Amino acid sequence: MRTAIVVHGGAWNIPDDLVEDHVRGTSRAAREGWKVLSRGGSALDAVEAAVRVMEDDPTFDAGVGSFLNEEGFVELDAAIMDGRDLKAGAVGAVRRVRHPVTLARAVMERTEHVMLVGEGAERLAERLGLEMCAPGDLIVERELERWRRERERERAGGGGRPPDIFSGGTVGAAALDDSGNLAAAVSTGGTPFKMVGRVGDSPIVGAGLYADGEVGAAVSTGWGEGIMRVLMAKAAVDALAAGADPGAAAEGALDILLRRTGGRGGLIVLDREGEIGLAHTTARMAYAYIRPGGGVEAGVLVGGG
Ligand code: GLY
Repeated sequence: MRTAIVVHGGAWNIPDDLVEDHVRGTSRAAREGWKVLSRGGSALDAVEAAVRVMEDDPTFDAGVGSFLNEEGFVELDAAIMDGRDLKAGAVGAVRRVRHPVTLARAVMERTEHVMLVGEGAERLAERLGLEMCAPGDLIVERELERWRRERERERAGGGGRPPDIFSGGTVGAAALDDSGNLAAAVSTGGTPFKMVGRVGDSPIVGAGLYADGEVGAAVSTGWGEGIMRVLMAKAAVDALAAGADPGAAAEGALDILLRRTGGRGGLIVLDREGEIGLAHTTARMAYAYIRPGGGVEAGVLVGGG
């Protein structure tokens, strides 16, 4: 059994001037998760820790720095899944929570439900004393500029938006711990200029993430409206169960997304042996991983489209 952590920082046409930040941010997240694993911590703690780092990093479409919706504010989705018992927790469309992944974990561990959205999710966060924020705290100048451009485009009748932008950011992590347990987590601000109340694939178990301790774990990024219709993460884990290696499982699930919906995205896949698969059909995908004996491997993959 090998411990491992793999993270992604989104699959889309990541601009040149953000590539370095993506590599730095995913590396930091992988290191934070690895710190948990290397002191004997659980895969669940590791994926939460890794995703929290990226929620705090304005580079990514998760937490602070997320894409803005059509009304100019951020709504966040997140989920976490424990491969030991298929327990999962998810939140959708929260506006005032600093770490949606931690709230998703609270839904899993502290309620009898799997998903809470909007005000109800925020009330739980407040009740549990999780870190709250003002909606404006999640907005950065870069995204405000993007929103202004989008608004102008809409006013001019829409159209002309680069297609890959729909594949958005999103961050995710999958980990295998010392005891052989697998977990996955995901967090996102969704797509730019989305409708108020829109929830994507990320918090939907089987679409945005899946972790089955008997098989493996997968975390999606990309065009949520397509991913949720093909349950892309579950498709990748099912492929592992059928004997595919993690790379082939990721590619196969992305192929289903493209063939059946025309959608593009990216996947990280981790199997029970700690083998990692990375694949994307977008222009670029940011990733980092750490396995025993190695340092952090991180980069931005290109040419998946
Ligand atoms: N994959 C992230 C989203 O579509 O919301």
